[in-house]
Amino acid sequence: MKKKPYLSIALVAGLAVSSIGAQAIYAKPAETAQQVQPFNVFDNKVLDKINVENIYNNIEYLSRTPRVAGTEAEHKAIQYVKEQFESYGYETELQEFTFYGYTAPHTVKLSIDGYTGEIKPKSFTYGMDGNVSGELVYAGLGQTSDFEGKDFTGKIALIKRGSISFADKVLNAAANGASGVIIFNNASGELNGTFGSPSDKYVPAVGITQEAGQALLQKLNNGESLNAAIQIEGAEAGMRTSYNVIAKKAPTNKNKSTDGIVALGAHHDSVPGAPGANDDASGTAMTLELARVMKDLPTNMEMRFMTFGAEELGLIGSRYYVSQLPEEEKDRFVGYFNMDMVGSRDAGDLVINTVDGSQNIVSQTAQASSARLNGEPTPIQTGGSSDHVSFYEGGIASGSFIHRPLEPWYHTPEDTIDKISKEKLQDVAEIVGTAVYDIVRPDNQGPKGNRGKEQKVPHLYYEQDVK
Ligand code: BES
Ligand code: ZN
Repeated sequence: MKKKPYLSIALVAGLAVSSIGAQAIYAKPAETAQQVQPFNVFDNKVLDKINVENIYNNIEYLSRTPRVAGTEAEHKAIQYVKEQFESYGYETELQEFTFYGYTAPHTVKLSIDGYTGEIKPKSFTYGMDGNVSGELVYAGLGQTSDFEGKDFTGKIALIKRGSISFADKVLNAAANGASGVIIFNNASGELNGTFGSPSDKYVPAVGITQEAGQALLQKLNNGESLNAAIQIEGAEAGMRTSYNVIAKKAPTNKNKSTDGIVALGAHHDSVPGAPGANDDASGTAMTLELARVMKDLPTNMEMRFMTFGAEELGLIGSRYYVSQLPEEEKDRFVGYFNMDMVGSRDAGDLVINTVDGSQNIVSQTAQASSARLNGEPTPIQTGGSSDHVSFYEGGIASGSFIHRPLEPWYHTPEDTIDKISKEKLQDVAEIVGTAVYDIVRPDNQGPKGNRGKEQKVPHLYYEQDVK
Protein backbone atom coordinates (compact mmCIF):
# COMPACT_ATOMS: atom_id res chain seq x y z
CA MET A 1 0.00 0.00 0.00
CA LYS A 2 1.30 3.40 -0.94
CA LYS A 3 1.39 5.96 1.77
CA LYS A 4 2.55 9.44 0.99
CA PRO A 5 2.81 11.56 4.07
CA TYR A 6 3.58 14.71 2.13
CA LEU A 7 1.72 16.29 -0.72
CA SER A 8 2.73 18.84 -3.28
CA ILE A 9 1.39 22.35 -2.88
CA ALA A 10 -0.59 21.96 -6.10
CA LEU A 11 -2.42 18.92 -4.82
CA VAL A 12 -3.19 20.45 -1.45
CA ALA A 13 -4.47 23.58 -3.14
CA GLY A 14 -6.75 21.42 -5.22
CA LEU A 15 -8.04 19.63 -2.17
CA ALA A 16 -8.45 22.69 -0.03
CA VAL A 17 -12.00 23.24 -1.15
CA SER A 18 -13.71 20.20 0.20
CA SER A 19 -17.28 19.30 -0.55
CA ILE A 20 -18.40 20.87 2.67
CA GLY A 21 -16.43 24.04 2.38
CA ALA A 22 -13.59 23.13 4.72
CA GLN A 23 -11.21 25.55 3.06
CA ALA A 24 -9.97 27.22 6.20
CA ILE A 25 -9.12 24.17 8.16
CA TYR A 26 -6.16 22.81 6.28
CA ALA A 27 -2.76 23.22 7.80
CA LYS A 28 -0.97 26.13 6.26
CA PRO A 29 1.39 25.00 3.51
CA ALA A 30 5.01 25.18 4.60
CA GLU A 31 7.36 27.44 2.68
CA THR A 32 9.20 24.60 1.03
CA ALA A 33 7.04 22.99 -1.64
CA GLN A 34 6.60 19.19 -1.48
CA GLN A 35 7.00 19.30 2.32
CA VAL A 36 3.42 20.08 3.15
CA GLN A 37 1.59 18.30 5.91
CA PRO A 38 -1.50 17.06 4.14
CA PHE A 39 -3.67 16.54 7.19
CA ASN A 40 -6.36 18.96 8.14
CA VAL A 41 -6.06 19.96 11.78
CA PHE A 42 -9.06 17.87 12.77
CA ASP A 43 -7.65 14.71 11.20
CA ASN A 44 -5.05 14.43 13.94
CA LYS A 45 -7.71 14.31 16.63
CA VAL A 46 -8.86 11.04 15.07
CA LEU A 47 -5.52 9.71 13.86
CA ASP A 48 -3.89 10.11 17.26
CA LYS A 49 -6.49 7.89 18.88
CA ILE A 50 -6.92 4.99 16.44
CA ASN A 51 -5.35 1.85 17.85
CA VAL A 52 -5.29 -0.91 15.27
CA GLU A 53 -4.61 -3.54 17.96
CA ASN A 54 -8.12 -2.95 19.30
CA ILE A 55 -9.60 -3.64 15.88
CA TYR A 56 -7.47 -6.72 15.39
CA ASN A 57 -8.26 -8.13 18.84
CA ASN A 58 -12.00 -7.65 18.37
CA ILE A 59 -11.86 -9.39 14.98
CA GLU A 60 -9.97 -12.23 16.63
CA TYR A 61 -12.64 -12.55 19.32
CA LEU A 62 -15.63 -12.26 16.98
CA SER A 63 -14.26 -14.70 14.37
CA ARG A 64 -13.83 -17.66 16.67
CA THR A 65 -17.08 -19.07 15.28
CA PRO A 66 -19.47 -18.40 12.40
CA ARG A 67 -22.24 -15.93 13.38
CA VAL A 68 -25.23 -17.00 11.33
CA ALA A 69 -28.22 -14.69 11.83
CA GLY A 70 -30.73 -15.95 14.37
CA THR A 71 -28.33 -18.43 16.00
CA GLU A 72 -26.91 -18.47 19.51
CA ALA A 73 -23.49 -17.54 18.08
CA GLU A 74 -24.87 -14.39 16.46
CA HIS A 75 -26.65 -13.46 19.69
CA LYS A 76 -23.37 -13.80 21.58
CA ALA A 77 -21.63 -11.54 19.07
CA ILE A 78 -24.47 -9.02 19.47
CA GLN A 79 -24.05 -9.03 23.26
CA TYR A 80 -20.29 -8.59 22.85
CA VAL A 81 -20.68 -5.61 20.51
CA LYS A 82 -23.19 -4.04 22.90
CA GLU A 83 -20.87 -4.53 25.87
CA GLN A 84 -17.97 -2.97 23.97
CA PHE A 85 -20.02 0.11 23.07
CA GLU A 86 -21.10 0.37 26.70
CA SER A 87 -17.54 0.04 27.94
CA TYR A 88 -16.69 3.19 25.94
CA GLY A 89 -19.57 4.98 27.65
CA TYR A 90 -22.33 4.71 25.04
CA GLU A 91 -25.91 3.97 25.86
CA THR A 92 -26.62 1.13 23.48
CA GLU A 93 -29.87 -0.18 22.07
CA LEU A 94 -30.65 -3.62 20.68
CA GLN A 95 -33.24 -3.31 17.94
CA GLU A 96 -35.05 -6.62 17.57
CA PHE A 97 -36.46 -7.94 14.30
CA THR A 98 -37.69 -11.29 13.06
CA PHE A 99 -37.35 -13.03 9.74
CA TYR A 100 -38.13 -16.32 8.12
CA GLY A 101 -34.98 -18.45 8.42
CA TYR A 102 -33.67 -21.76 7.27
CA THR A 103 -31.24 -24.24 8.82
CA ALA A 104 -29.54 -26.60 6.39
CA PRO A 105 -30.03 -30.36 6.95
CA HIS A 106 -27.35 -32.33 8.81
CA THR A 107 -27.89 -35.40 6.62
CA VAL A 108 -28.05 -35.36 2.81
CA LYS A 109 -27.77 -38.77 1.10
CA LEU A 110 -28.37 -40.07 -2.38
CA SER A 111 -27.96 -43.66 -3.49
CA ILE A 112 -28.62 -45.08 -6.91
CA ASP A 113 -28.83 -48.80 -7.47
CA GLY A 114 -26.50 -49.80 -10.24
CA TYR A 115 -24.35 -46.66 -10.06
CA THR A 116 -21.02 -46.97 -8.27
CA GLY A 117 -19.46 -43.60 -9.11
CA GLU A 118 -18.96 -41.14 -6.26
CA ILE A 119 -21.83 -38.68 -5.75
CA LYS A 120 -21.68 -35.88 -3.21
CA PRO A 121 -25.28 -34.64 -3.11
CA LYS A 122 -26.00 -31.09 -1.90
CA SER A 123 -29.23 -29.77 -0.48
CA PHE A 124 -30.92 -26.54 -1.59
CA THR A 125 -31.63 -23.64 0.75
CA TYR A 126 -35.35 -23.80 1.67
CA GLY A 127 -35.43 -27.45 0.54
CA MET A 128 -37.35 -29.90 2.69
CA ASP A 129 -36.61 -33.07 4.64
CA GLY A 130 -37.70 -36.43 3.36
CA ASN A 131 -36.94 -40.06 2.69
CA VAL A 132 -38.05 -40.91 -0.84
CA SER A 133 -37.16 -43.47 -3.47
CA GLY A 134 -38.33 -44.44 -6.93
CA GLU A 135 -37.36 -45.03 -10.51
CA LEU A 136 -35.10 -42.38 -12.01
CA VAL A 137 -36.62 -40.62 -15.05
CA TYR A 138 -35.01 -37.85 -17.09
CA ALA A 139 -37.01 -34.61 -17.30
CA GLY A 140 -34.69 -32.37 -19.34
CA LEU A 141 -34.61 -28.81 -17.98
CA GLY A 142 -37.67 -29.49 -15.84
CA GLN A 143 -39.92 -27.09 -17.76
CA THR A 144 -43.66 -27.82 -17.95
CA SER A 145 -43.28 -29.23 -21.46
CA ASP A 146 -40.64 -31.72 -20.27
CA PHE A 147 -43.23 -33.56 -18.20
CA GLU A 148 -45.93 -33.81 -20.87
CA GLY A 149 -46.95 -37.29 -21.93
CA LYS A 150 -44.82 -39.03 -19.29
CA ASP A 151 -45.81 -40.58 -16.00
CA PHE A 152 -43.73 -39.27 -13.13
CA THR A 153 -45.96 -40.51 -10.32
CA GLY A 154 -43.79 -41.76 -7.45
CA LYS A 155 -40.63 -41.34 -9.54
CA ILE A 156 -37.44 -39.38 -9.05
CA ALA A 157 -36.93 -36.74 -11.75
CA LEU A 158 -33.41 -36.19 -13.08
CA ILE A 159 -33.20 -32.57 -14.24
CA LYS A 160 -30.48 -30.46 -15.80
CA ARG A 161 -29.61 -26.99 -14.43
CA GLY A 162 -30.46 -23.99 -16.63
CA SER A 163 -33.18 -21.75 -18.16
CA ILE A 164 -35.57 -21.73 -15.16
CA SER A 165 -34.99 -21.52 -11.43
CA PHE A 166 -34.21 -24.53 -9.24
CA ALA A 167 -37.48 -23.92 -7.40
CA ASP A 168 -39.57 -24.00 -10.59
CA LYS A 169 -37.94 -27.26 -11.69
CA VAL A 170 -38.85 -28.89 -8.38
CA LEU A 171 -42.37 -27.42 -8.34
CA ASN A 172 -43.00 -28.66 -11.90
CA ALA A 173 -41.76 -32.14 -11.00
CA ALA A 174 -43.88 -32.20 -7.85
CA ALA A 175 -46.97 -31.02 -9.76
CA ASN A 176 -46.48 -33.99 -12.07
CA GLY A 177 -46.35 -36.45 -9.19
CA ALA A 178 -42.59 -36.92 -8.77
CA SER A 179 -41.57 -37.88 -5.23
CA GLY A 180 -38.08 -36.43 -5.46
CA VAL A 181 -35.72 -34.45 -7.73
CA ILE A 182 -32.04 -34.64 -8.64
CA ILE A 183 -30.69 -31.56 -10.40
CA PHE A 184 -27.29 -31.79 -12.07
CA ASN A 185 -24.97 -28.91 -12.80
CA ASN A 186 -24.42 -27.43 -16.26
CA ALA A 187 -20.95 -26.22 -15.36
CA SER A 188 -18.01 -27.69 -13.48
CA GLY A 189 -18.07 -27.86 -9.69
CA GLU A 190 -20.61 -28.74 -7.05
CA LEU A 191 -24.16 -27.46 -7.16
CA ASN A 192 -25.00 -25.40 -4.08
CA GLY A 193 -28.22 -23.58 -4.75
CA THR A 194 -31.23 -21.97 -3.16
CA PHE A 195 -34.94 -22.08 -3.94
CA GLY A 196 -35.06 -18.41 -2.99
CA SER A 197 -38.11 -18.82 -0.75
CA PRO A 198 -39.93 -21.56 1.15
CA SER A 199 -42.86 -23.59 -0.17
CA ASP A 200 -44.65 -26.64 1.19
CA LYS A 201 -45.11 -27.80 -2.42
CA TYR A 202 -41.45 -28.78 -2.85
CA VAL A 203 -40.42 -32.44 -2.80
CA PRO A 204 -37.01 -33.59 -1.45
CA ALA A 205 -34.30 -32.50 -3.88
CA VAL A 206 -30.53 -32.69 -4.19
CA GLY A 207 -27.94 -31.12 -6.48
CA ILE A 208 -25.12 -33.13 -8.05
CA THR A 209 -22.20 -32.39 -10.37
CA GLN A 210 -22.45 -32.22 -14.14
CA GLU A 211 -20.20 -35.25 -14.38
CA ALA A 212 -22.39 -37.45 -12.16
CA GLY A 213 -25.55 -36.23 -13.88
CA GLN A 214 -24.23 -36.98 -17.36
CA ALA A 215 -23.15 -40.47 -16.25
CA LEU A 216 -26.66 -41.19 -14.94
CA LEU A 217 -28.24 -39.81 -18.11
CA GLN A 218 -25.95 -42.00 -20.20
CA LYS A 219 -27.15 -45.09 -18.35
CA LEU A 220 -30.80 -44.11 -18.79
CA ASN A 221 -30.19 -43.45 -22.49
CA ASN A 222 -28.67 -46.94 -22.73
CA GLY A 223 -31.97 -48.33 -21.54
CA GLU A 224 -30.87 -49.19 -18.01
CA SER A 225 -33.41 -48.91 -15.24
CA LEU A 226 -32.11 -47.07 -12.16
CA ASN A 227 -33.67 -46.78 -8.75
CA ALA A 228 -32.76 -43.68 -6.71
CA ALA A 229 -33.18 -42.95 -3.00
CA ILE A 230 -32.92 -39.48 -1.43
CA GLN A 231 -32.59 -38.99 2.33
CA ILE A 232 -32.60 -35.47 3.80
CA GLU A 233 -32.80 -34.89 7.55
CA GLY A 234 -32.51 -31.90 9.86
CA ALA A 235 -33.68 -29.09 7.58
CA GLU A 236 -35.56 -26.55 9.64
CA ALA A 237 -37.48 -23.53 8.48
CA GLY A 238 -39.20 -21.02 10.75
CA MET A 239 -39.18 -17.57 12.32
CA ARG A 240 -35.86 -16.39 13.77
CA THR A 241 -34.89 -13.37 15.81
CA SER A 242 -31.91 -11.09 15.28
CA TYR A 243 -30.89 -7.62 16.43
CA ASN A 244 -29.23 -4.45 15.22
CA VAL A 245 -26.89 -2.83 17.74
CA ILE A 246 -27.11 0.96 17.92
CA ALA A 247 -24.95 3.40 19.89
CA LYS A 248 -25.66 7.12 19.67
CA LYS A 249 -23.57 10.20 20.39
CA ALA A 250 -25.35 13.50 20.80
CA PRO A 251 -23.64 16.64 19.42
CA THR A 252 -21.35 18.19 22.03
CA ASN A 253 -21.63 21.65 20.58
CA LYS A 254 -25.07 22.24 22.13
CA ASN A 255 -25.59 25.82 21.02
CA LYS A 256 -24.41 25.67 17.49
CA SER A 257 -25.10 22.09 16.52
CA THR A 258 -26.83 21.24 13.28
CA ASP A 259 -29.68 18.75 13.33
CA GLY A 260 -27.80 16.33 11.04
CA ILE A 261 -27.12 12.66 11.72
CA VAL A 262 -24.03 10.88 10.42
CA ALA A 263 -23.80 7.11 10.85
CA LEU A 264 -21.22 4.44 10.31
CA GLY A 265 -21.49 0.72 10.63
CA ALA A 266 -21.10 -2.85 9.46
CA HIS A 267 -22.85 -6.21 9.65
CA HIS A 268 -22.04 -8.60 12.47
CA ASP A 269 -23.50 -11.81 11.00
CA SER A 270 -21.66 -14.30 8.79
CA VAL A 271 -22.61 -17.06 6.37
CA PRO A 272 -22.82 -20.65 7.68
CA GLY A 273 -19.45 -22.35 8.10
CA ALA A 274 -17.47 -19.13 7.69
CA PRO A 275 -15.88 -17.45 10.73
CA GLY A 276 -16.17 -14.22 8.77
CA ALA A 277 -13.01 -12.57 10.08
CA ASN A 278 -13.00 -10.25 7.12
CA ASP A 279 -16.75 -10.58 6.28
CA ASP A 280 -17.58 -8.78 8.40
CA ALA A 281 -15.93 -8.99 11.81
CA SER A 282 -13.47 -6.49 10.28
CA GLY A 283 -16.17 -3.85 9.72
CA THR A 284 -17.79 -4.59 13.08
CA ALA A 285 -14.49 -4.19 14.93
CA MET A 286 -13.74 -1.00 13.00
CA THR A 287 -17.14 0.42 13.90
CA LEU A 288 -16.33 -0.29 17.56
CA GLU A 289 -12.91 1.34 17.36
CA LEU A 290 -14.21 4.46 15.60
CA ALA A 291 -16.94 4.72 18.24
CA ARG A 292 -14.25 4.56 20.95
CA VAL A 293 -12.10 7.14 19.12
CA MET A 294 -15.02 9.58 18.67
CA LYS A 295 -16.48 9.17 22.15
CA ASP A 296 -15.10 12.37 23.66
CA LEU A 297 -14.37 14.36 20.53
CA PRO A 298 -16.25 17.64 20.15
CA THR A 299 -18.89 17.33 17.46
CA ASN A 300 -21.55 19.39 15.85
CA MET A 301 -23.88 16.66 14.72
CA GLU A 302 -25.45 13.51 16.05
CA MET A 303 -23.47 10.33 15.34
CA ARG A 304 -24.72 6.75 15.22
CA PHE A 305 -22.54 3.65 15.36
CA MET A 306 -24.39 0.55 14.29
CA THR A 307 -23.92 -3.11 13.53
CA PHE A 308 -26.60 -4.96 11.61
CA GLY A 309 -27.92 -8.50 11.79
CA ALA A 310 -28.97 -10.79 8.93
CA GLU A 311 -27.13 -8.90 6.19
CA GLU A 312 -26.06 -12.17 4.61
CA LEU A 313 -29.70 -13.23 4.28
CA GLY A 314 -30.56 -10.21 2.17
CA LEU A 315 -29.81 -6.97 4.09
CA ILE A 316 -32.65 -7.80 6.47
CA GLY A 317 -31.38 -5.94 9.57
CA SER A 318 -30.44 -2.71 7.82
CA ARG A 319 -33.66 -2.67 5.77
CA TYR A 320 -35.56 -3.06 9.02
CA TYR A 321 -33.55 -0.24 10.60
CA VAL A 322 -34.29 2.17 7.73
CA SER A 323 -37.95 1.11 7.66
CA GLN A 324 -38.27 2.02 11.36
CA LEU A 325 -36.70 5.48 11.04
CA PRO A 326 -39.25 8.24 11.64
CA GLU A 327 -39.61 10.55 8.63
CA GLU A 328 -38.14 13.34 10.68
CA GLU A 329 -34.95 11.32 11.30
CA LYS A 330 -34.68 10.27 7.66
CA ASP A 331 -34.75 13.96 6.77
CA ARG A 332 -31.92 14.65 9.22
CA PHE A 333 -29.68 11.84 7.95
CA VAL A 334 -26.63 13.26 6.20
CA GLY A 335 -24.90 10.00 5.28
CA TYR A 336 -24.09 6.40 6.17
CA PHE A 337 -20.54 4.96 5.95
CA ASN A 338 -20.59 1.15 5.60
CA MET A 339 -17.53 -1.00 6.22
CA ASP A 340 -17.80 -4.51 4.84
CA MET A 341 -14.62 -6.56 4.27
CA VAL A 342 -12.01 -3.98 5.21
CA GLY A 343 -8.98 -6.00 6.32
CA SER A 344 -8.03 -8.90 4.08
CA ARG A 345 -4.33 -9.35 3.40
CA ASP A 346 -5.27 -11.22 0.22
CA ALA A 347 -7.78 -8.80 -1.33
CA GLY A 348 -6.94 -5.92 -3.66
CA ASP A 349 -7.02 -2.18 -3.06
CA LEU A 350 -9.66 -0.17 -1.26
CA VAL A 351 -12.65 1.10 -3.24
CA ILE A 352 -15.78 3.02 -2.26
CA ASN A 353 -18.97 1.40 -3.54
CA THR A 354 -21.97 3.60 -4.12
CA VAL A 355 -25.19 1.99 -5.28
CA ASP A 356 -25.61 4.14 -8.41
CA GLY A 357 -21.91 4.79 -8.98
CA SER A 358 -22.27 8.51 -8.45
CA GLN A 359 -20.67 10.72 -5.82
CA ASN A 360 -22.33 11.65 -2.57
CA ILE A 361 -21.15 13.13 0.70
CA VAL A 362 -19.80 9.75 1.87
CA SER A 363 -17.66 9.15 -1.21
CA GLN A 364 -16.63 12.80 -1.50
CA THR A 365 -15.45 13.19 2.07
CA ALA A 366 -13.67 9.81 1.93
CA GLN A 367 -11.97 10.72 -1.34
CA ALA A 368 -10.84 13.98 0.22
CA SER A 369 -9.56 12.26 3.38
CA SER A 370 -7.77 9.49 1.47
CA ALA A 371 -6.12 12.11 -0.72
CA ARG A 372 -5.00 14.02 2.39
CA LEU A 373 -3.67 10.84 4.00
CA ASN A 374 -2.32 8.81 1.11
CA GLY A 375 -1.79 11.31 -1.67
CA GLU A 376 -4.53 9.95 -3.90
CA PRO A 377 -8.29 9.57 -3.56
CA THR A 378 -9.74 6.09 -3.03
CA PRO A 379 -11.55 5.22 -6.27
CA ILE A 380 -15.32 5.01 -6.37
CA GLN A 381 -17.12 2.08 -8.04
CA THR A 382 -20.73 1.10 -8.59
CA GLY A 383 -21.56 -1.66 -6.13
CA GLY A 384 -24.32 -3.00 -3.91
CA SER A 385 -24.41 -6.28 -1.96
CA SER A 386 -24.21 -4.72 1.47
CA ASP A 387 -26.08 -2.58 3.99
CA HIS A 388 -25.41 0.77 2.28
CA VAL A 389 -28.06 -0.35 -0.23
CA SER A 390 -30.77 -0.15 2.44
CA PHE A 391 -29.88 3.49 3.18
CA TYR A 392 -29.78 4.35 -0.52
CA GLU A 393 -33.23 2.81 -0.86
CA GLY A 394 -34.40 5.08 1.94
CA GLY A 395 -33.07 8.15 0.12
CA ILE A 396 -30.00 8.48 2.38
CA ALA A 397 -26.51 9.10 0.93
CA SER A 398 -24.32 6.04 1.54
CA GLY A 399 -21.17 4.26 0.51
CA SER A 400 -19.45 1.00 1.36
CA PHE A 401 -15.73 0.46 1.87
CA ILE A 402 -14.31 -2.82 0.51
CA HIS A 403 -11.07 -4.11 -1.02
CA ARG A 404 -11.40 -5.37 -4.60
CA PRO A 405 -10.81 -7.88 -6.05
CA LEU A 406 -12.09 -10.05 -3.21
CA GLU A 407 -9.86 -12.54 -1.41
CA PRO A 408 -10.30 -16.24 -2.32
CA TRP A 409 -11.51 -16.96 1.24
CA TYR A 410 -14.72 -14.96 0.81
CA HIS A 411 -17.65 -16.92 2.34
CA THR A 412 -15.43 -19.93 3.17
CA PRO A 413 -14.21 -21.55 6.41
CA GLU A 414 -10.83 -20.01 5.50
CA ASP A 415 -11.99 -16.45 6.27
CA THR A 416 -9.93 -16.42 9.48
CA ILE A 417 -7.91 -13.99 11.58
CA ASP A 418 -4.54 -15.06 10.14
CA LYS A 419 -5.58 -13.49 6.79
CA ILE A 420 -6.18 -10.08 8.37
CA SER A 421 -3.75 -7.26 7.60
CA LYS A 422 -3.25 -4.63 10.31
CA GLU A 423 -1.91 -2.29 7.65
CA LYS A 424 -5.15 -2.48 5.67
CA LEU A 425 -7.24 -2.03 8.84
CA GLN A 426 -5.21 1.02 9.82
CA ASP A 427 -5.61 2.56 6.37
CA VAL A 428 -9.41 2.16 6.21
CA ALA A 429 -9.95 3.24 9.82
CA GLU A 430 -7.97 6.42 9.11
CA ILE A 431 -9.81 7.20 5.88
CA VAL A 432 -13.29 6.58 7.27
CA GLY A 433 -12.57 8.10 10.69
CA THR A 434 -11.19 11.36 9.29
CA ALA A 435 -13.90 11.56 6.60
CA VAL A 436 -16.64 11.20 9.19
CA TYR A 437 -15.01 13.69 11.52
CA ASP A 438 -14.66 16.15 8.63
CA ILE A 439 -18.47 16.25 8.58
CA VAL A 440 -19.25 16.26 12.30
CA ARG A 441 -16.38 18.49 13.56
CA PRO A 442 -17.58 21.34 15.75
CA ASP A 443 -16.92 24.27 13.42
CA ASN A 444 -18.86 22.73 10.57
CA GLN A 445 -22.22 24.38 10.15
CA GLY A 446 -23.37 22.18 7.30
CA PRO A 447 -24.45 20.13 5.64
CA LYS A 448 -28.02 19.38 6.46
CA GLY A 449 -29.67 16.12 5.58
CA ASN A 450 -30.11 15.93 1.84
CA ARG A 451 -32.73 13.31 1.35
CA GLY A 452 -33.07 11.71 -2.07
CA LYS A 453 -35.98 9.76 -3.42
CA GLU A 454 -36.85 6.40 -1.93
CA GLN A 455 -36.38 3.51 -4.34
CA LYS A 456 -36.11 -0.22 -4.35
CA VAL A 457 -32.90 -1.77 -5.66
CA PRO A 458 -33.35 -5.15 -7.36
CA HIS A 459 -32.01 -7.97 -5.25
CA LEU A 460 -28.74 -9.07 -6.79
CA TYR A 461 -27.88 -12.62 -5.86
CA TYR A 462 -25.21 -14.53 -7.63
CA GLU A 463 -26.54 -16.27 -10.71
CA GLN A 464 -25.54 -19.59 -9.11
CA ASP A 465 -28.12 -19.13 -6.42
CA VAL A 466 -31.08 -18.54 -8.64
CA LYS A 467 -30.76 -20.87 -11.62
N1 BES B 1 -19.45 -8.82 2.35
C1 BES B 1 -20.31 -9.10 1.26
C2 BES B 1 -20.32 -7.90 0.38
C3 BES B 1 -19.83 -8.05 -0.98
C4 BES B 1 -19.50 -9.27 -1.56
C5 BES B 1 -19.73 -6.91 -1.71
C6 BES B 1 -19.07 -9.32 -2.84
C7 BES B 1 -19.28 -6.95 -3.01
C8 BES B 1 -18.95 -8.18 -3.57
C9 BES B 1 -21.71 -9.33 1.75
O1 BES B 1 -21.73 -9.76 3.05
C10 BES B 1 -22.39 -10.36 0.89
O2 BES B 1 -21.94 -11.46 0.77
N2 BES B 1 -23.49 -9.97 0.28
C11 BES B 1 -24.31 -10.83 -0.53
C12 BES B 1 -25.54 -10.10 -0.96
C13 BES B 1 -26.56 -9.89 0.10
C14 BES B 1 -27.63 -8.99 -0.41
C15 BES B 1 -27.11 -11.20 0.60
C16 BES B 1 -23.65 -11.26 -1.81
O3 BES B 1 -22.95 -10.45 -2.44
O4 BES B 1 -23.86 -12.42 -2.21
ZN1 ZN C 1 -20.32 -8.91 4.21
